[in-house]
Amino acid sequence: MRILRSISETRAAVRAMRAAGRSIGFVPTMGALHAGHISLVRAARASCDATVASIFVNPTQFAPNEDFSKYPRTFDADCNALDREGVEILFAPSAEEMYSNVSSTFVDVEGVSDRLDGVSRPGHFRGVATVVAKLFHIVGPDRAFFGQKDAAQLAVLKKMVRELNFPVEIVACPIVREPDGLAMSSRNRYLSPEERKQALALHRALQEMARLATNGITAAGKLIAAGEESLAKEPGVRVDYCKIVNSDTLEDVVDISAGALAAVAAFVGTTRLIDNLLL
Ligand code: PAJ
Repeated sequence: MRILRSISETRAAVRAMRAAGRSIGFVPTMGALHAGHISLVRAARASCDATVASIFVNPTQFAPNEDFSKYPRTFDADCNALDREGVEILFAPSAEEMYSNVSSTFVDVEGVSDRLDGVSRPGHFRGVATVVAKLFHIVGPDRAFFGQKDAAQLAVLKKMVRELNFPVEIVACPIVREPDGLAMSSRNRYLSPEERKQALALHRALQEMARLATNGITAAGKLIAAGEESLAKEPGVRVDYCKIVNSDTLEDVVDISAGALAAVAAFVGTTRLIDNLLL
């Protein structure tokens, strides 16, 4: 695997692959890789000729009070894992390479960016959309692979790609979970053993909503109430949101007959976790 730090080298390396007639799969990450990230690499490998990954802890998607400086950085282990999985190019730029200190151009996907996580993390999705647009311009992939774990991010990026005519297909991949159901996340490393147990409340609440939906309850209000009741049983967990929304627009739905996304976000100690389930 080639580890490239500059935009120009990355462009040249991908151009050579493309000249050889190879399709390009791309997996953008912030590192601290776990089996969820690796599942995206495997999906890319299975459907594209060459796989490119990126590791960049993107400062513009973190608010000043968030965990940018303590975000886990495990670069050497990440490189070993990506190399083992057959990634050919890893783009790992510095913040200076990605952003000049006078950057004043942003991608704002209005509407969806202010829903779900966008409510408690204002500006977050502007940072995500901007960096992913830049990465797409640099790498120029045919397909890019994202986890359903970040369902709101997916909705924002799908809309960006559609409306700005990026020649890339966004592929959504299923959530990878720990054996007990906790959705894998780089932030799970922050949890104490006690908090690790409490964190299961998110998955439990989603399962309870899915169980009721399977039993024929279609009123979103009833399902949300059941989810909130389930979350309230775990006093260590402070709910940010528990919602049922349209998975494309992220707007609330009143009835789930046509399919919907159940989504929760909650603080366990000081760690904010998210999880969701398509009903
Ligand atoms: P990061 O949190 O590192 O996640 C990179 C990709 O891995 C995202 O598409 C995310 O949805 C996916 N992922 C994370 N946990 C997963 C799980 N348990 N199962 C399946 N996929 C999972 O998301 C970002 O980075 C950044 O916002 C980024 C898109 C790289 C832009 O900076």
